[in-house]
Amino acid sequence: MDKNILVSGADGFIGSHLCESLVLKGFKVKALVQYNSFNSYGHLEKSPYLKEMEIISGDLRDSFFCEKLVQDVDIIFHLGALIAIPYSYMAPKSYVDTNVSGTLNLLEAAKKSGIELFIHTSTSEVYGSALYVPIDEKHPLQPQSPYSASKIAADMMALSYYHSFNLPLIIARPFNTYGPRQSARAIIPTIITQILNKEKELKLGDLTPTRDLNFVLDTCEGFISLLKLKNYGEVFNIGSSKEYSMQEVVMLIKKLLNSDIKIIQDEQRLRPKNSEVLRLCCDSSKLFNATGWKSKISLEEGLQKSIEYFKENLSSYKSNIYNV
Ligand SMILES: NC(=O)c1ccc[n+]([C@@H]2O[C@H](COP(=O)([O-])OP(=O)(O)OC[C@H]3O[C@@H](n4cnc5c(N)ncnc54)[C@H](O)[C@@H]3O)[C@@H](O)[C@H]2O)c1
Repeated sequence: MDKNILVSGADGFIGSHLCESLVLKGFKVKALVQYNSFNSYGHLEKSPYLKEMEIISGDLRDSFFCEKLVQDVDIIFHLGALIAIPYSYMAPKSYVDTNVSGTLNLLEAAKKSGIELFIHTSTSEVYGSALYVPIDEKHPLQPQSPYSASKIAADMMALSYYHSFNLPLIIARPFNTYGPRQSARAIIPTIITQILNKEKELKLGDLTPTRDLNFVLDTCEGFISLLKLKNYGEVFNIGSSKEYSMQEVVMLIKKLLNSDIKIIQDEQRLRPKNSEVLRLCCDSSKLFNATGWKSKISLEEGLQKSIEYFKENLSSYKSNIYNV
């Protein structure tokens, strides 16, 4: 518990919850928020545990900054990344700069400072449309978007630091995560906030793809369970192993919000045909067998908690536009 844990991406959706979960478990947390001129700590701004964390503002793209950042750190959870798929069609180089070069900077800094454990965050998007289900860690990697390609590159760079330099490294590969604080670009916040804002029609993209949906606190427990392991150079999926089509998710949210809103397909939200990942369902038995972790919160319960959050924070969401 006297370990000093650095969380990159601490200002973001999963990272802010992870920092809070770590504080609650008694860890010392050093939270990296991305430097900005508003001095905003992102989602940590309103955290009841803010005073119990060390907040550092900076940028993963700067190698000098990363070297200083990790000097007093024992363990790293590296979550900082650009994550929106549609924006990766428009600004792919920024994904390479942040996700690949940013990860390289942190790996190199960790190598030099002699870190105890580096947990690198991958994503189920690296698998592309499932070639078989459930998807285990041996499933081929298919870069169907620049985002996915940048995360594959980052994963490979991370693994190379294990193979070349014995960096004690584990790759966490979460499937789709949802819950309070998720950004407006994701489908669940999009559906909930459009309904809560009483938009005339519910504008969505393709509703046929399926996803493995994991509530954010379950994902965080999955991350934290990795602290017990010494399986360096290995990948662990983190998912609920339950598959839902986006159509099923919309119908469930409409039921929970007692809404009869009409759904229309918004062309600009459709992804290029071969880029859309059609099916994702996680085999998380490797993590379960190693740590006993499994997802606990049902989709209905998780959606209820999310709805409560979006009701209280509705003014921060621009539901009338397509948020990329
Ligand atoms: N949300 C999901 O469903 C999901 C699923 C699988 C994997 N992941 C992975 O989990 C991680 C966190 O995702 P999230 O959903 O919380 O996204 P998020 O966008 O909410 O958080 C990412 C954070 O990284 C920070 N960041 C970006 N560029 C940076 C830079 N140059 N320097 C410092 N910080 C920078 C941003 O400020 C942001 O808050 C990412 O690595 C993502 O690929 C997310």
